[in-house]
Amino acid sequence: FNIPNPVNEPVKAYAAGSPERKELQAAVKEARAKQLDVPMYIGSEEVRTGKTRPMSPPHDHKHILGHFHEGDASHVKQAINAALGAKHDWENLAWEQRAAIFLKAADLIAGPYRAKINAATMLGQSKNAMQAEIDAACEFIDFLRFNVKYMSEIYAQQPPVSGNGVWNRLEQRPLEGFVFALTPFNFTAIAGNLPTSAAMMGNTIVWKPAYTQIYSANVLMEVFKEAGVPDGVINLIYVDGPTAGEVIFNHPDFAGIHFTGSTGVFQHIWKTIGGNIHKYKSYPRIVGETGGKDFVIAHKSADAKGVAVGLVRGAFEFQGQKCSAASRAYIPSNLWEDVKKYMLEDLASIKMGGTEDFTNFVNAVIDEKSFDKIESYITSAKVNPLTEIIAGGNCDKSKGYFIEPTVIVTQDPMYTTMCEEIFGPVLTIYVYNEEHYEEALELVDQTSPYALTGAVFSQDRYAIDLATQKLKNAAGNFYINDKPTGAVVGQQPFGGARASGTNDKAGSMINLLRWVSPRTIKETF
Ligand code: NAD
Ligand code: ALA
Repeated sequence: FNIPNPVNEPVKAYAAGSPERKELQAAVKEARAKQLDVPMYIGSEEVRTGKTRPMSPPHDHKHILGHFHEGDASHVKQAINAALGAKHDWENLAWEQRAAIFLKAADLIAGPYRAKINAATMLGQSKNAMQAEIDAACEFIDFLRFNVKYMSEIYAQQPPVSGNGVWNRLEQRPLEGFVFALTPFNFTAIAGNLPTSAAMMGNTIVWKPAYTQIYSANVLMEVFKEAGVPDGVINLIYVDGPTAGEVIFNHPDFAGIHFTGSTGVFQHIWKTIGGNIHKYKSYPRIVGETGGKDFVIAHKSADAKGVAVGLVRGAFEFQGQKCSAASRAYIPSNLWEDVKKYMLEDLASIKMGGTEDFTNFVNAVIDEKSFDKIESYITSAKVNPLTEIIAGGNCDKSKGYFIEPTVIVTQDPMYTTMCEEIFGPVLTIYVYNEEHYEEALELVDQTSPYALTGAVFSQDRYAIDLATQKLKNAAGNFYINDKPTGAVVGQQPFGGARASGTNDKAGSMINLLRWVSPRTIKETF
C-alpha cells in the first residue's frame, strides 16, 4: 500500500544559541503577548457562547493568555449531531484519503506548527522546551505516522479462507454512531491521539479536553483543519465533564469512549455506561488509560548511580505529572547510602521556575487543585513519625504552582504515599533488607491497585528473571535497568492493566482495532 515506513521523529535539542531555540523563544514571546479568544469547533462553526473563562500559565497564574468560550448541554447535542451528520461521507472516504489527511497533520506539526504547538504546551501546561518537544511534537507526530501505518496493515489483513463456490470476506466497518474522546491535561500528544486514532478508522468524534489543556488543544484543531479533516469529523467542545457525560452517555448513538485520565473518573463513567446499557444501539467500546503508582525496585547487585539517575529523571521530569512517573521505590540496604548521595547531588543541580527560562528543569504543576492535593501529602509526611523528607518539601503558589522535587523516606512500606497516586513531584522510598528481595517484590505487587509502569535495576540475571516473573501483572510497561518513563511510539507500546486501564496500548494496532466492528461476508456462487 506504499504507506511510508514511519521512523520516530528526531527530538530537537534546543541548544543555547541554536536557530531552533531562537524560533521557539520567539513563539513563546508572541503567544504570551497575545490575548486569544478561543471558540469551540462544532461542524463548520466556530462557536462563541460569550461565557468565557481565562487561560493562564500554571507557572505564572496571574498572566492571562486569553479566554475560551464555555458551552453547555445544548452544545454537546450540537456536537453529537455534527458528528453523526459527517459520518456517512467520512466513513465512505477511501482509507488512503483519510491516511493522507493525518500524514499531512504530522508533517504540519513537524514543520510549520512545531514552534507554535510547543510554545502552547510550554505556556498552557507548564512544560519546559524539551518536555514540550517530546510530548506535543515528537510523540504526537509518531502517533499519527505509526497509526497510519497500522491502519494500512489492518485494511491489508489476509482475508479469511475461501473455497470453491464460496468467497469469504472480512470488512472493517467503523463503529455505528459517534465516539467520545475525553482527554486529560497532562499530554498534548494524548489529547491529539485520542480523537485522531478513532477518526482514522472512519469514526466521527466529539472531543472534550480538560479545561487546563484547551490552550494547546486549540492549536491541534488548527492543524486538523489545515490538514483537511472535514467539518464535523472532530468536534471540539468545552463543557464540564459531568454535563458532557450526562448528554453523551444517554445518547442511543454513543458508540464508544476513548478516555485517558484518572481511575476514579473512568470507573464512574464505566458504571454510568453500564447503567444505561439498554439505551444504546450497540455495546459501546470502552477504552481507558488511567492512573498509576509506578515503581522502581533495585536489587542488591544494581549500579547505585544508575538507580539514582533513573529515580531523579523518572520521578521529577514533567513535574511528576506523567502517568508513568516513578513515585515509589524499593532500595536494598546495601545500596541506600550511595543511591541517596547521588540523588541528592543530582537534585541540588536542578533549577525550578517558569518555562520561559530554558534552563529550568522543574516547572509548575497544572493548577491549584493539583497543588493543594500534592501539598497535603507532603504536609502529612512532615509530621508522620515513620517518614522523613530528605529533599524538597517546599511548596509556593504565590506566582505559580511550584512544588520542589520531594523525596520522602518511609519505614512503613504501606504508607499512603507508597500506595496512592499523588500525580506530582513526590517520590517515596522504602529501604528494604538487601537479603529480602523476594519479599520486596511481593510488596511491589501488592501495595497498589495500579499496574501501569515499573522498573527493576539489577546486574544479576536471576534477580531480573525473578522480578519479570513475579511482577508479570504489576505493570503494562516494564523496564529493566532503565527509568519507568519515556515509552516511544512504535518501540514500547504503552498502557497498563489493573486500575491503570484497559491496556489497549496507545499508538498500536491493538488500539486501532477497538475502533472498528468487523463484518464477515460469505458469498456463494
Ligand atoms: P481527570 O480524570 O481529572 O480528567 C480527564 C478528563 O475527564 C477531563 O477532560 C475531565 O474534564 C473529564 N472529566 C472529569 N470528571 C468527569 C465526569 N464526572 N464525567 C465526564 N468527564 C469527566 O484526569 P486529569 O487530571 O486530566 O489527568 C491526570 C490523570 O490522567 C492521572 O490520573 C494520570 O495517571 C492519568 N493519565 C493516564 C495515562 C495513561 O496512559 N494511563 C496517561 C496520561 C494521564
Ligand atoms: N508515554 C509516556 C511515558 O512513557 C507517558 O512516559
